[in-house]
Amino acid sequence: VADDTIALGRWRFARESPGYTLAFAAVVCIVCALLVAIAAVSLQPAQEAKQQHYVQKNVLIAAGLLAPGVDISAAELRRVFAERIELRLVDLANGTLVPPEVMDAAGFDPRRARSDPALSQPAPANRAGVMRLPRYALVYVLKQGGALDQLVLAIDGLGMWGTVYGFIALDADATTVRGLTFHEQKETPGLGGEIGNPAWQALWRGRRIFDDKWQPQLTVIKGPAGAPAQDPLRVDGLSGSTVTSNAVTHLVHFWFSPAGYGPLLANLRSGKVQP
Ligand SMILES: Cc1cc2nc3c(=O)[nH]c(=O)nc-3n(C[C@H](O)[C@H](O)[C@H](O)COP(=O)(O)O)c2cc1C
Repeated sequence: VADDTIALGRWRFARESPGYTLAFAAVVCIVCALLVAIAAVSLQPAQEAKQQHYVQKNVLIAAGLLAPGVDISAAELRRVFAERIELRLVDLANGTLVPPEVMDAAGFDPRRARSDPALSQPAPANRAGVMRLPRYALVYVLKQGGALDQLVLAIDGLGMWGTVYGFIALDADATTVRGLTFHEQKETPGLGGEIGNPAWQALWRGRRIFDDKWQPQLTVIKGPAGAPAQDPLRVDGLSGSTVTSNAVTHLVHFWFSPAGYGPLLANLRSGKVQP
């Protein structure tokens, strides 16, 4: 005689009973939840590696070592980084580079540092929407024949819909822009989202961050700017997107102010810091 009951632990249910159906559903839920949890945990390192690959790729794009839209393998990216880029940490308060034996730049997580009270503090009042200022920031140093060629610096600030993250590459003169990328942003595609458009980013090349008094002045204006040689302190605005354009101006002004990279760049100009 077929047994029409099923055991679950010390309980026994009739197969057609509501108790059996509920217990069956509960078991399926628990198994699925476990599978999802295991997948999330085991895939996390791969996700982090992918994220790091994407961020580092954008450092290369800002530095002009990789064309936008071109893919690069993880091995090739590692090779270019090893050969061309020195990763350093800057102490933002005094603009000095932290000796690698004091603190390892490779293990520094800028986002985590922002939420760590030991590694960050409330930012001074600013129009970029930056709430917390890290004590240290990553500096990607590129050299040519032993001399400083360019620096790639991380920038971020509040756009219309969320924080936008990017990189800006500067010549050894510590003011001329080599390149710009925005690799993470939630601005509206076709409007503020155009800050991610390589054609607009290309307009930044050759512009200058600082005016003659070394104040950060580069401004995303409403409408078109002139050529970099004639109009070095202004960049074309994004049409219909003044909110995002202004946000980019504010974040550039903040990150190149004395609260941000100002002291580092002053030290580079005076020769006090030689990466
Ligand atoms: C659905 C929607 C999404 C928008 N997204 C953006 C945006 O991402 N960035 C932005 O600057 N303006 C955005 N705007 C437009 C702004 O509200 C504002 O009108 C615009 O920035 C003004 O720019 P203008 O002076 O060049 O016209 C959006 C508007 C709407 C209705």
